[in-house]
Amino acid sequence: MIKIYEAKDYQEMSRKAANILSAQIILKPDCVLGLATGSTPIGTYDQLVEWYEKGDLDFSKVKSVNLDEYKGLEKTNDQSYYYFMHKHLFDRVNIDPANTNVPDGMETDTEKECQRYEELIDSLGGVDIQLLGIGRNGHIGFNEPDSAFAQKTHCVNLAESTIDANKRFFASADEVPRQAYSMGIGTIMRAKKILLLASGEDKADAVAKAFFGPVTPEVPASILQFHSDVVVIGDTLALSKMPR
Ligand code: PGA
Repeated sequence: MIKIYEAKDYQEMSRKAANILSAQIILKPDCVLGLATGSTPIGTYDQLVEWYEKGDLDFSKVKSVNLDEYKGLEKTNDQSYYYFMHKHLFDRVNIDPANTNVPDGMETDTEKECQRYEELIDSLGGVDIQLLGIGRNGHIGFNEPDSAFAQKTHCVNLAESTIDANKRFFASADEVPRQAYSMGIGTIMRAKKILLLASGEDKADAVAKAFFGPVTPEVPASILQFHSDVVVIGDTLALSKMPR
């Protein structure tokens, strides 16, 4: 079932999302959080850090698995998702770094890394709540529009539209890695709960197609219509093309 909540702006979206994540942490202090990168969740992480600093949240038993990572970027590269997670969340709260997990972008043996990541998620007992952004083309994680849904963690070739969207973080489009490791659609669908965030007008088409259009691998997020527990929080602009 999908519940869609409208927030008036990015800040309100972030606060609502942080409320849901903190409720999860309070209900189950050793929960497994599925985490995401990108500009969308930054405000959510900032809010969680604020509540942690006030003494309202304790990450000491929390475990995390991230959705994806560029292939070929060192952890120390400031565009790697490992770096992003430490900067925006892990280094600012009392989570044990040993309990945080991001695919290893420097592992060149694709099969080995994908298998390791799937087994790791299973060994943690699965993801309690998976935070997601959505791409302008409807991707989740780095699951790009395709002719089939990817089952498991895999290595993907990034779509041109994704390279274009992400080049703002690099010196030039040429420097954006062409490949990434990503949880598969099947991996994401096994999370017990999904929390998808969308902010801004450039996500409005993707949100409308994902939740009101046909379920198709051409719009990877549309598969979430078949998940039993999805919360979407969008700001007014991101929800502006939904049928009313
Ligand atoms: P964004 O990316 O949060 O930077 O918009 C979301 C995504 O592409 O999944």
